[in-house]
Amino acid sequence: MQHNDGLLARGISRRDFQRLAGFFAAGAALPFATEPVLAQLSQTGPIPPDAVKINANENPLGPCPQALDAVQSIAARGGRYMYDLTAQFTQTIAAQENLKPRYVLPFAGSSDPLHRVVLAYTSASKPYVVADPGYEAGFRAADFAGAKSIRIPLTKTYAHDVRAMAAADPNAGVIYVCNPNNPTGTLTPRADIEWLIENKPKGSVVLLDEAYIHFSSATPCSDLVAADKDLIILRTFSKIYGMAGLRAGAAFGRPDLLERITGYAAGALPTTGMAGATASLESKTVVPERKTNMKNLREDVFSFLQKNNIAFVPSESNCFMLDTKRPAGEFVKAMQAEKIYVGRVWPAWPTYSRITIGTPAEMAKFQTALLKVMA
Ligand SMILES: Cc1ncc(COP(=O)(O)O)c(C=O)c1O
Repeated sequence: MQHNDGLLARGISRRDFQRLAGFFAAGAALPFATEPVLAQLSQTGPIPPDAVKINANENPLGPCPQALDAVQSIAARGGRYMYDLTAQFTQTIAAQENLKPRYVLPFAGSSDPLHRVVLAYTSASKPYVVADPGYEAGFRAADFAGAKSIRIPLTKTYAHDVRAMAAADPNAGVIYVCNPNNPTGTLTPRADIEWLIENKPKGSVVLLDEAYIHFSSATPCSDLVAADKDLIILRTFSKIYGMAGLRAGAAFGRPDLLERITGYAAGALPTTGMAGATASLESKTVVPERKTNMKNLREDVFSFLQKNNIAFVPSESNCFMLDTKRPAGEFVKAMQAEKIYVGRVWPAWPTYSRITIGTPAEMAKFQTALLKVMA
């Protein structure tokens, strides 16, 4: 295979290549962690095309009509780099967040800056501090950097325990806060985030992941970036904007903080992602409409669960944790047998499975299967 020969010529051994080919053939154990990869790791075999896929916090609505138009018209001009589209995206999001454009770094999604921040700011002597249960991608990057991950249980109200996180290690490199949290969809009060920024160990950065912020009632913290705090915020277009496959995102931070994650960057960003993201930002309706729609769907499913005495953790996001009252892996398999693919299990909460909220039709199928499996 030509591709294989190319890798071999560049010094990648046949064994390495076979290992990589194995990763890709499995479609699962890729050497980096993203939501769909993590979702795939917890299931066996491919997902049937007619299955309900509520396992990876994706948005079944896809891009809004304005974004879709922008993507379609820019695709025909895909032979050009068009760096101006990236500049336009950066300026648009910066203006909306009241940030100077140099406080914004554009990316193809937010996994990339998440990994870079952890790689740049943690090391064998600078641990990574994260909530438990929390989004796993960061501690996988910390493993790669040779850094210890310190997992701090959520509080009784399912917020980040910012006091315990600040006290976790005086040499902490990164303290990661996800608001709303993945997988619980629960909020950490803004006052706690402010307290953490003021009281964290010297030399550490707070990495605030606002992937799901638009689904919730939480106030974004970009003003704290503008105030030059030791804070990097991540945003993605994969969630409310429905562009996970198109790829767009950004990191907000003081220029000196962002500088440390730019070193390995090279090349252009996808014009489809940048054009679609700018069009999404310019839409006045996409966020409020989708936020209300999600709230209604969430309330419907929560009242169904209450009516049927099924325990769950109330959430402000597009996902929530359901208590299956058994080792949750068994529940996940039983739901798969009904062609409902629900989310994975976090070791800290072994009886819970994360459920992504899909379309009304998908949630109706979920409810039917759930009653059968929980009976
Ligand atoms: C909390 C959180 N951060 C970051 C990401 C990364 O998403 P993306 O790379 O698609 O922006 C995800 C994906 O699900 C996520 O849940």
